Amino acid sequence: MKFRFFLLFVLFAAAHGATDPTDAAALRSLMSQWQNTPQNWGLNDPCDAPWDGVSCTNSRVTMLFLTTMGLKGTLSGDISQLTQLQLLDLSSNSGLGGPLPPGLGNLKQLNTLTVAGCSFIGNIPQELGNLANLTFLALNSNKFTGRIPASLGQLSKLYWLDIGDNQLSGPIPVSSSNSPGLDQLLNTKHFHFNKNQLGGTIPESLFSSKMSLIHVLFDSNNFLGPIPTSIGSLPNLQIIQLDRNSLSGPVPGSISNLTSLNVLSLANNQLTGPIPDLSQMRVLNYVDLSNNTFDANPAPSWFTSLESLTTLMAESGGLLGNIPPQMFAFPQMQVVLLGNNAFNGTLDLSKSGSELQTVDFRNNAISGFKSSATYDETLILAGNPVCTTQLANTIYCSLRQEVQQPYSTSLGQCNSTSCPNGESVEPQSCNCAYPYQGLLVFRAPSFRDVSSAATYQELEKSLSTQLNVASNAVYISNPFYNILNYLEVQLKLFPSSGLYFTRLEILKIGLLFNNQTFSPPAKFGPYYFIASAYPFPSGSSGGGSSISSGLIAGIAVGCVILLIVLVLLGFYARRQKKRAERAAERSRPFASWLSHGKDGDGAPQLKGARLFSFDELKKCTNNFSEANEIGSGGYGKVYKGVLPSGEQVAIKKAQQGSMQGGNEFRTEIELLSRVHHKNLVGLVGFCFEQGEQMLVYEYIPNGTLRDSLVGRDGRHLDWPMRLRIALGSARGLAYLHELANPPIIHRDIKSTNILLDENITAKVADFGLSKLVSDSQKGHVSTQVKGTLGYLDPEYYMTQQLTEKSDVYSFGVVMLELITARQPIEKGKYIVREVRMALDGRDTEYYGLRSLMDPRLRTTQNLAGFKRFVELAMKCVEESAASRPTMNELVKEFEQILQNEGIKSNSTSTTTSATEFVNTKGGAHPYNDLLQEKDMNSDAFEYTGGYTFASRIEPK
Ligand SMILES: *[C@@H]1O[C@H](CO)[C@@H](O)[C@H](O)[C@H]1NC(C)=O
Ligand SMILES: *[C@@H]1O[C@H](CO)[C@@H](O)[C@H](O)[C@H]1NC(C)=O
Ligand SMILES: *[C@@H]1O[C@H](CO)[C@@H](O)[C@H](O)[C@H]1NC(C)=O
Ligand SMILES: *[C@@H]1O[C@H](CO)[C@@H](O)[C@H](O)[C@H]1NC(C)=O
Repeated sequence: MKFRFFLLFVLFAAAHGATDPTDAAALRSLMSQWQNTPQNWGLNDPCDAPWDGVSCTNSRVTMLFLTTMGLKGTLSGDISQLTQLQLLDLSSNSGLGGPLPPGLGNLKQLNTLTVAGCSFIGNIPQELGNLANLTFLALNSNKFTGRIPASLGQLSKLYWLDIGDNQLSGPIPVSSSNSPGLDQLLNTKHFHFNKNQLGGTIPESLFSSKMSLIHVLFDSNNFLGPIPTSIGSLPNLQIIQLDRNSLSGPVPGSISNLTSLNVLSLANNQLTGPIPDLSQMRVLNYVDLSNNTFDANPAPSWFTSLESLTTLMAESGGLLGNIPPQMFAFPQMQVVLLGNNAFNGTLDLSKSGSELQTVDFRNNAISGFKSSATYDETLILAGNPVCTTQLANTIYCSLRQEVQQPYSTSLGQCNSTSCPNGESVEPQSCNCAYPYQGLLVFRAPSFRDVSSAATYQELEKSLSTQLNVASNAVYISNPFYNILNYLEVQLKLFPSSGLYFTRLEILKIGLLFNNQTFSPPAKFGPYYFIASAYPFPSGSSGGGSSISSGLIAGIAVGCVILLIVLVLLGFYARRQKKRAERAAERSRPFASWLSHGKDGDGAPQLKGARLFSFDELKKCTNNFSEANEIGSGGYGKVYKGVLPSGEQVAIKKAQQGSMQGGNEFRTEIELLSRVHHKNLVGLVGFCFEQGEQMLVYEYIPNGTLRDSLVGRDGRHLDWPMRLRIALGSARGLAYLHELANPPIIHRDIKSTNILLDENITAKVADFGLSKLVSDSQKGHVSTQVKGTLGYLDPEYYMTQQLTEKSDVYSFGVVMLELITARQPIEKGKYIVREVRMALDGRDTEYYGLRSLMDPRLRTTQNLAGFKRFVELAMKCVEESAASRPTMNELVKEFEQILQNEGIKSNSTSTTTSATEFVNTKGGAHPYNDLLQEKDMNSDAFEYTGGYTFASRIEPK
């Protein structure tokens, strides 16, 4: 069998490039059991043009990270074939379930395994104990049942063990002469076992001074009996959470050895004896001893000596006697909950520290109250004698008091409700986008405060720096302590551009949470993140198609050797078929162009557009470096590049989700290569390789319309120039809409996509890779909303029906920019709304827009046609597409405005004749270029709008 396998291997290796064939087959098997795999799964080679979430080294798959993909299905046992896998992250796919395959135990190189927030069931396979290299194991927030396998004790490198939030039962395994146990995990720092049904006593032999534990989270289980004395021997322990069990007996004196402890929660057990002595815990922040059956005792001395305390809770703690006033004076003290005790005498808050927010002494025997009048936060004294005397009928005697307003990130001036369904407002920028969101759960915070801006801003800052996103791309809200006293925080992250994160971005950010690379400020303690499903723009599943699942099922019952061979042959055949199809799709159309292209006449359909290789473009953009990035939009990014010939080009690189099929891409290239128009940036070539689609355009060095409007390039655009720019870009667009066949909708018109050459001729850039309006769909194309915020047609937004009128809307916004020089959305204000509100027909000069308009225009004496221009802009941004003009109508209107102006200047001037007008071409008179607008380059350029004017001045 080995031999045969080897033969097949050789066969595969010869037939295919990058990925090891066994790995490739394993990935396809995984894929066959999953819905919603990323779109590029199943295309190309998994390592070569890497599938999203797959990372390879030397042709072997080493990382598989697929968090938050919306995966549905089960985990195929064929995962065991990926024997070089080092990292497996399937977290936050709530549709992913079934049992974990025991074959995971074969992945000897695995060091990170995280499946948090899925729906896995059944036992934790004991084979996981074979993963000798494992350092990180997170199985939390699933539906695992059964016992903790003792074999996990063999994971000698394990650093993180999280099995919390499952339905595990039985005792914690410890080693014996013939069995391993968790006491052997000497390198493990985290035992997160909380929220299960684990039971029995916590074994005395579980802990020893050789261990590295810092967090012991055993809360919300069914543990019985005493707290083991050995817990006091753990030298580095910072957090103990044993609350919500059935522990009994006295708290062992050894815990006073734990001088590094920050959080101690023993609440809701049946502990007895005296309140433990915590006076050596100089860094203790948070202590909860509530709801046990401790002996009656006065307040212990550490109530007034531990200056680091933020939270002191001992409800039903058997406490009596006087309340020492110093305990409220600690600088960090926030919350004191001592209800249901027997404190008497006077409650004295006159020394309260500045952080104090909540003091709850309900149901004690307090008879007096003293305060410095500075304390105006929550104070609950209901059920005390003082409520019938001194404080009768005050708010303090009510259980319902105002609660702290939970923190949320400031949105700046944005209105939180102004986004379409499913999107959210990004703070400060006010952009709407689909956030990557989820719940951050902190299981042992060392503070208790939901409102402190400083605390939560620290969290925001750590998120933005460590996840490497803009500071305003982080939005947190609604921190609250759930009934288990875990702090829950809603988190939203916003994409750096466009409406969506790409899959790869989500995978990468998610991984930073899932393997705990992200570490929040220390006081937040251990966390986990469960992300909500992300609404990726295209719903295509891509799953389940590459191999026959019947074949897979057969393995289980059939003759193993024979079937493995059959399966491999099956893979081979299918791969060959796929490969053939792929090759056909990928290379056939372009191969023929390539072979003819060199001599110039072989590929008439191409009109000079060149086929570039991926490597060529990679090289000329310095590996698509950030420094070369000159723009981005809903479709991807635009890079500047310099070809070996010295020619400068702009390379538009489609991102995942914007890609087309090979034949569609080919059609588009054929089309674009025939598009030649003076007001459109010319196509130089394209690339279709290695899973990339790129268009290469001529580079227009003189900057964008936006640069000129803000004066960034030192140019001042006077009114006639602006009219001319409007006309030029309208002509370019009218050409795309009406003369290209099939028509092209630009979909991303904005002032940064209108370039100005040295003669201030407008050139529309960045078209292509857009939806073609084919005949069958003429009228509209239903598609995912793409574009740039501020320019988006609201009707397209709502209906997803794309028409040329969507471009007209965006163009209307550009016209308003020409008038105001403002960004479409500036300081949270939308230019369309602003202008609409300001319009005033009684103002014949500025039409009510004096305060909104670009100050540089106000000084211009003659704003010829200004009012008409504003009217047209407002028609373009009508809500209803049907009310907007076509691009061609706009062209005619602009020509009219300029023509009137031209005639007027002619007629008012005694010296200027039409001929002189033509002869001054070259820029002196801003209207001059109009005189030669009829574009001789254009293949099919014959719109009628230009003729009247053009023929009038064309006698030359
Ligand atoms: C896994 O462990 C083996 C032996 O302990 C070691 O040689 C190998 O380098 C480890 N692999 C990784 C990825 O750490
Ligand atoms: C507590 O610490 C002391 C001194 O460091 C040590 O002798 C003792 O054994 C410790 N107690 C426990 C239970 O580990
Ligand atoms: C103590 O028990 C009471 C009654 O079950 C409960 O309402 C309260 O929340 C508990 N206190 C703490 C701090 O868990
Ligand atoms: C407060 O309680 C303690 C202990 O129960 C008792 O000795 C003392 O007399 C009480 N003081 C008052 C003022 O009731």
